[in-house]
Amino acid sequence: MSPTEAPSLALNGGQPAITHPLPPMYPGGMRIGEEEEAAVLEVIRSRRLFRYYGPQPGPSKVEELEKAFAETMGTRYALAVTSGTAALVCGLIGLGIGPGDEVIVPAYTWIASASAVAAVGAVPIMAEVDESLTLDPQDVVRQLTPYTRAIIPVHMRGAPCRMDALMEVAQSHHLKVLEDSAQADGASFHGKRLGSFGDAGIFSLQFNKIITSGEGGLLVTNDEEVYQRAVMAHDVVGGQRNGIPADQVILGINFRMPELLAAVMLVQLKRLDILLRDMRQRKQMLKESMSALARQKGITFRTIHDPTGEAAVALMFMLPNAKQASWVTQALSAEGVPAEVIYEEDRQDYHIYPHWAPIMNQQGWSPAASPWRNHPRPIHYTRDMCPKTLDLLGRCVHLDVSPDLDNTQVEEIAEAIHKVLAALD
Ligand SMILES: Cc1ncc(COP(=O)(O)O)c(C=O)c1O
Repeated sequence: MSPTEAPSLALNGGQPAITHPLPPMYPGGMRIGEEEEAAVLEVIRSRRLFRYYGPQPGPSKVEELEKAFAETMGTRYALAVTSGTAALVCGLIGLGIGPGDEVIVPAYTWIASASAVAAVGAVPIMAEVDESLTLDPQDVVRQLTPYTRAIIPVHMRGAPCRMDALMEVAQSHHLKVLEDSAQADGASFHGKRLGSFGDAGIFSLQFNKIITSGEGGLLVTNDEEVYQRAVMAHDVVGGQRNGIPADQVILGINFRMPELLAAVMLVQLKRLDILLRDMRQRKQMLKESMSALARQKGITFRTIHDPTGEAAVALMFMLPNAKQASWVTQALSAEGVPAEVIYEEDRQDYHIYPHWAPIMNQQGWSPAASPWRNHPRPIHYTRDMCPKTLDLLGRCVHLDVSPDLDNTQVEEIAEAIHKVLAALD
């Protein structure tokens, strides 16, 4: 009998390790309760649903959120918008990125990091991630061309990029830095909150994220000019509304955050530190419980550049090969632990560049407005252009770490991992 045919495995008809269903992975979302309800009701009762005016005078919830968020992240400014993607677009416009520019993005990120670059007319250039599954500073240097203007480090699944090394690269090559902290609210690198290192940082408040109002986003920056430009970009009359002289006003569209979202977010923001504490504790327990066995089986954990600062939303580890990773996820899922391999060639997933169809096919909104067609050098994307990223993600098993796991559930997940890894060849 092959070891992977062990009869105790649920995959082979044994008793699953998980005896009660695990909580879904909506960290802030699952804690929505009476406080959010009261906050929404207060706004509804006031009939002040729009940031800038309404029947009731008084402070706007959106403005209050911006102040509280900037304070939490340690930045001078925060601008609330309708999504993380809108925050990226406003951030890029704030930084003055546009046609003819190249912006380096990691090969592993939600497609929005790249789409936003194309939306402002610039060209995204994909760079490898390293064993931390975040932007590899050395590959950033390899991807530089005379057109490179900015980099977007993405703190994927809550783990900080090597911000010291990336800031050094950016400074020595005069590049702007827009941090994508969509998946890492409140996480930090060496004691400084993510999003506050670069020229600007963005956050998403979409329902999967650590704290949430269903949709929404925030841009943070210490740079007054970036902030003013973003304010104008996010509101058709943002320039006028903010007293900016007409000859300095740039084009704006509408990404204004509604009061109702801000009311929910003000409550969620207060929940952030507890959520982070709960996820970190649970991840630590799971990681420790499997460490010895992992070492024995040649499994390596994703490198975390600052283990105390990471958001700990996920446990991710690399198997020696993709076939083993695939088997481990099947065996874990049979035990009742949802698990997946990050990259599979045939499974469409907009988190990995080969699956970014509109980017890979260079399809803009119209041929004449295509960032790629108008770029001063030809850009060729191929499915295998970031082989290290594909290799790492093809061997990487991902498990959510919900802050709502109770002790029994943590123990049962640990047992499931143990059963499955012990059966590996
Ligand atoms: C890394 C990353 N960047 C940007 C975004 C875009 O945020 P939104 O969905 O709020 O537009 C997301 C959302 O999933 C994300 O995960």
